[in-house]
Amino acid sequence: MASGWAAEELASLQARGLRRYLEPLDSPQGPVVRIGGESLVNFSSNDYLGLAASATVRAAAVAAVERHGLGSGASRLVVGDTTAHHRLEARLAAFERAEAALLFNSGYAANTGVIPALVGPGDAVFSDALNHASLVDGCRLSRARVVVYPHADVEALSRELERAPARRKLVVTDTVFSMDGDVAPLADIVQACRAHGAALMVDEAHATGVLGPRGAGLCEELGLESRVDLRMGTLGKALGGLGAYVATSRRVADLLVSRARPFVFSTALPAAVCAAAEAAVDVVEKDVELRERLWRNIRRFAQGLQALGLRAEARSAVFPVVLGSPERALEVAERLRGAGVLVKAIRPPTVPEGTSRLRFCLSAAHTLGHVDLALDALGRAGVHRRDY
Ligand SMILES: Cc1ncc(COP(=O)(O)O)c(C=O)c1O
Repeated sequence: MASGWAAEELASLQARGLRRYLEPLDSPQGPVVRIGGESLVNFSSNDYLGLAASATVRAAAVAAVERHGLGSGASRLVVGDTTAHHRLEARLAAFERAEAALLFNSGYAANTGVIPALVGPGDAVFSDALNHASLVDGCRLSRARVVVYPHADVEALSRELERAPARRKLVVTDTVFSMDGDVAPLADIVQACRAHGAALMVDEAHATGVLGPRGAGLCEELGLESRVDLRMGTLGKALGGLGAYVATSRRVADLLVSRARPFVFSTALPAAVCAAAEAAVDVVEKDVELRERLWRNIRRFAQGLQALGLRAEARSAVFPVVLGSPERALEVAERLRGAGVLVKAIRPPTVPEGTSRLRFCLSAAHTLGHVDLALDALGRAGVHRRDY
């Protein structure tokens, strides 16, 4: 029965250019990856600092596997909690200059767990129109009234905050928007929240390790750490591992331990993943050159896109090249692949209809030669002629 349903749905996805396929890597994550015997320069990974396969992170994970084994055996509240989890949480709290940090198994789990733990029926949650799907799903699961405000429009947000008759008001926003690479007007959002008695949660998934003098994200860059109630950061992107954390007050962290369902009802991260993340945070904080190399690549790529006549700002490691239809995005991705450049087409529902795109992610591990190869391939694919 279900196979029949699936066949129908798959045919519909295929007809609209929206079917997805898996493509296994036959190499570690890195600036060059192997897929199906082909070596490709990889512009689709969120491994912004090249830590996923780094010797330091690997060694920390291997040592922890030797010490703790692999599986954690249970949720943290049962018997899956280890000293490695607590060490990492203390390290992350210090890194984020927060009272506390609490681990989650992924950013998706954090966002879908935290929002319903804080707001519910009778409350309102205000969400940027371009927020990541995990924030969107967290809002839906909370059963609070969801108010979606136009992207980065703080005036509209303020108006909505003003007229919402809710018991509790929570604003949620990405800091770096995952598919556009632009940055939220955070100082103004903080002010709007203050003015209307709202709490603020930000998602720093694409800012952690990339922005801020120590790599702690946009809140750190703007000196707003103490003015944001909850800051979610991921361990699976610039930190090269898996999982996520929420930096917040001790009281909020304590509440999440009892209330956030993905925390309560899911097997804990392996201790080895925690040990690897701890090593990665040390690298992020100490290896300033790594971030400088990432920013050198970001600037070079932004300049190259501008030279092709495309709009581009060096504000994060994410660059969208918007092409319009799914078919056009797939076609250009295929042409780039022919030139040795791996960049996946991003299509609805990940991005709004009519804005299918190539999403380039820069890494500190890219050489300038890699960056120029991508620019050259884009030029040859005729993308400078902008059909969108
Ligand atoms: C902005 C944002 N938030 C949350 C997530 C989810 O994080 P994770 O991959 O750790 O589940 C992602 C990406 O996957 C993201 O881009």
